[in-house]
Amino acid sequence: MNEHDSEKMAAMLEELGLIEASSPDGAEVVVINTCSIREKAEHKLYSALGKLKPYKVKDPGMVTVVAGCVAQQEKDKLLKKVRHLDAVLGTHCISELPTVVRQVREARDRVVLSDFHQDVDSLHLPAPCKGPSPVCSYVTVMQGCSNFCSYCVVPLTRGPEQSRPREEIVAEISTLAAKRVREVTLLGQNVNAYGKDLRAGYSFARLLTELNRIEGIQRIRFTTSHPRDFDGDLARAMGNLESVCEHIHLPLQSGSDRVLQAMRRGYTLAEYLEKLRVLREAIPSVAVTADMIVGFPGETAEDFSQTLQALEQIRFDQIFSFKFSPRPGTAARNLPEQIPEEVKTERLSKVHELQDRITAAYHLAAEGTAVEVLVEGFRPRTGQPFGRTRGNKIVNLESADGVSVGDLVKVKILRGLKHSLTGKKIG
Ligand code: 5AD
Ligand code: SF4
Repeated sequence: MNEHDSEKMAAMLEELGLIEASSPDGAEVVVINTCSIREKAEHKLYSALGKLKPYKVKDPGMVTVVAGCVAQQEKDKLLKKVRHLDAVLGTHCISELPTVVRQVREARDRVVLSDFHQDVDSLHLPAPCKGPSPVCSYVTVMQGCSNFCSYCVVPLTRGPEQSRPREEIVAEISTLAAKRVREVTLLGQNVNAYGKDLRAGYSFARLLTELNRIEGIQRIRFTTSHPRDFDGDLARAMGNLESVCEHIHLPLQSGSDRVLQAMRRGYTLAEYLEKLRVLREAIPSVAVTADMIVGFPGETAEDFSQTLQALEQIRFDQIFSFKFSPRPGTAARNLPEQIPEEVKTERLSKVHELQDRITAAYHLAAEGTAVEVLVEGFRPRTGQPFGRTRGNKIVNLESADGVSVGDLVKVKILRGLKHSLTGKKIG
């Protein structure tokens, strides 16, 4: 989502006639887009600002902007703390970037914009903009989150859940299709809740059904799904709609019911497993990935062993795992029984070890199979084409012969490596 916000801001700056610079040296405008999901992400901002300072000192006319979640969280405090910063742009205000740049340049004002807007205007932004590949694009379908998981800063930094009108989504994706985009990834903190705030009866499954009809779009992905709102309708839609890829990112977070409750996730492990059973029944080949947090306050050795057991039992294709990080304004920050850093580190490495083994087994099992790959680009160093399977696994092709970006090719998997697959085109 942050990457897509950066793409939108880059497109707006291009509309002002600016072009991308390769370094801050000599740049007229520098925007640092920020994440505050964990403390480490927030630290990156301060290190980036430190590196920026000599350039701003050398060229005081340079416009420096911090945008995104840390901007939203810190507001004017950031401007007070950092003398060489000109503007702070909250998550709902990024569409104001061109105005702010002009204001700073012409009046040398220092600006803070951090209001939340009701009309999702930060979604009404230059579209389409440059995506991660010429044939793949992100499309925002919702913004914000109203779940308030006890560890999470997102509802505070991105505001309440708001769905984007379906007409706008359809129009944006149709434009992308006309520009040869073949794959779209629908973005929202909780896409399963799509439509609940629009009109009764409209759902994410219905949105997917409409998008599946758009000519030229061969693959539809979406992220992130919340297990509580994931239902059989969506599982069946995923199974029936040919453009919707057989992959779901369904964060579990913990294998312990006690911890899940303290996290305010709204499901038990058994409920999660039942949803997965329904999904795997509808789509036996479905790839499932998840996020996991270790070291949540009060997580005992027994809770943690339940997490390991859940990973063994579910066998996710891949996971993203994190040490719990206390975030400002969240309920879990002040819980007693915070877990020592070294225990979190040890638990995280156990999770990594186990998941690496499971992922490697999937990759090994893929050897000799035939898969469909959408070619997204060529590796700069080797010139090898690469892309992803419908299950979102990265495949590097042995040879570039007869392969162009945007091709959907049939590939035989030759080797299953730790993080990717290697294959050759067979059709
Ligand atoms: N500490 C650690 N991980 C977190 N996440 C969200 N908030 C925190 C936090 N305070 C993780 C969750 C979420 C992913 C995007 O980031 O696993 O699904
Ligand atoms: Fe954060 Fe996701 Fe929970 Fe929303 S559903 S509060 S974004 S972890």
